[in-house]
Amino acid sequence: MKFTRTAGLKGEITVPGDKSISHRAVMFGSLAEGITTVRNFLRGADCLSTIDCFRRLGIQIDETPEQITIHGKGLHGLSAPSQILDAGNSGTTTRLISGILSGQNFETTLTGDASIQKRPMGRIIEPLTEMGASIVSLSGNGCAPLKIQGRPLRGIHYRTKVASAQVKSSILLAGLYADSPTSVTEPALSRNHSELMLRQFGAKVQTEGTTATIWPEPSLSGQEITVPGDISSAAYFIAAACITPDSELLIRNVGINPTRNGILQVCRMMGADLTVLPYPSGEGEPAADLLVRTSSLKGCVIEGSLIPTLIDELPVIAVMACFASGTTVIRDAAELKVKESNRIDAMAENLTAMGAQVTATEDGLIIEGGRPLRGAAVDSRLDHRIAMSFAIAALNADGETEIRDAECVNISYPEFYQDLNRISSRT
Ligand code: S3P
Repeated sequence: MKFTRTAGLKGEITVPGDKSISHRAVMFGSLAEGITTVRNFLRGADCLSTIDCFRRLGIQIDETPEQITIHGKGLHGLSAPSQILDAGNSGTTTRLISGILSGQNFETTLTGDASIQKRPMGRIIEPLTEMGASIVSLSGNGCAPLKIQGRPLRGIHYRTKVASAQVKSSILLAGLYADSPTSVTEPALSRNHSELMLRQFGAKVQTEGTTATIWPEPSLSGQEITVPGDISSAAYFIAAACITPDSELLIRNVGINPTRNGILQVCRMMGADLTVLPYPSGEGEPAADLLVRTSSLKGCVIEGSLIPTLIDELPVIAVMACFASGTTVIRDAAELKVKESNRIDAMAENLTAMGAQVTATEDGLIIEGGRPLRGAAVDSRLDHRIAMSFAIAALNADGETEIRDAECVNISYPEFYQDLNRISSRT
C-alpha cells in the first residue's frame, strides 16, 4: 500500500472498541452463568479468534452489527473441542485461554500462526504447571503448539519476571479453578482489565500495589458490557495530529484506564497540545474525548513503570520522537522484542530507511529527532502496529512510502486506512 504526505488532519474520529477488553468479555461471558451482551465489540481478527476458540469449546456466541451475545455455561460448562484450537496471531487469546484450559477436565491442543509459534509461552507454562496443569510445548521450544491437560489445581503465589497482563490474567483465570486463593505479584503494574471485569462478573479479586489475588469457584453471572474505544488505536491519531501541520482532531470515547494511558503522560512530557475531556465514570473502565492539535514536540525519556502502561504504543511514540526536537530515549522495554514482531528491530530498520537517526538498544530505542523523513519501502513484518505506525510516518515524509503487507491492520483495526483517509486532506 502506498502513502504520500497529507495536509492537516481535521474533524472527529471514533476508534473501534478496545482489543484487550473485547477478548476478556468473550472469555468471562463464556465462563459466566447466563447471557452476556457486548456492545462496541472489536471485530478485529484477534478477537474473532477468541470467539472461534470458545465456539469450539461449546459456547454459543451470536453476532449482530450492534452487539455480540454470549450464552455462558458457567465455570464448568466448556466441552472438549473436536479439533485443535487456533488463536491466529493473538497472544492474548493464547495465554489467557491456557489458564482457563488448565482447569478443565479434558485435554486441548492450542496453536496459532507463524508469529504465535515463535512467542514465548514458558512464562505461562511455568506458573500453570506449578498450579498442577500439564502443558507441553509440542515443538519443544517453549512456544505453541501447546498440549494442555487440565487437572485439579492448587492456589499459588507467583512472582512474574516481567510486567505482563497476559501472564497475570492467565494465572488468575486458572485461579478460578484452584483449591485455594491465587496471587500474582508483578515487577510493575500491567493493565488491570481482567481484575476489573472479573469483579464485575462476580469474582472475588483483590489488588494491593502490584499484587492481585483471586478466590476460587465464584459464581460468575452474565453482564451487559459496553467496550470503550481502544487507546492503542487512538494512539495513531494522537501522534498523527501532533506531528502533521495544521491539524485539529477530536478523538471520541477513548478508554483511559490509568494502567493503559501512558501515552497521555508521554504527550505531556513531549509538550503535545492535547486536552483530555473525561466522561463521568462509575466503577468501570474510564473514557474520555481527546482533542489534539499540531504540536511542537520535544524529546523525553520513557522508562521504568511507565513502560507497561504504553507498551503497544511505543512504535508510534518512536515515530513522534522523529518529529520532536532533541533526543528521545526508550528503555526498560525489552518486551518489544517478543511482540507480534521484534518491534525494536522493526522500528529501527524501517525508520532508518526513511532517513531517521535511530539506534536500537538491548531494551529500547534512542531517537535523535528533527531530521526530515523521506518516503521508503518499509516492511510491516506482518505486525499491525508496525504497519499503522509507518502509515502515520508516511503522511509526514517527502515522497512516497510503500508499506509491505499493510493489510495486517486487520488484526486490531480493520477500518484503519479508511478512517485515516477520511480525516486527511491531500496536499
Ligand atoms: C495485552 C497485554 C500486553 C499487550 C497486548 C495485550 C492484554 O501484552 O502488549 O497487546 O490484553 O492483556 P503482555 O501481557 O505480553 O505485555
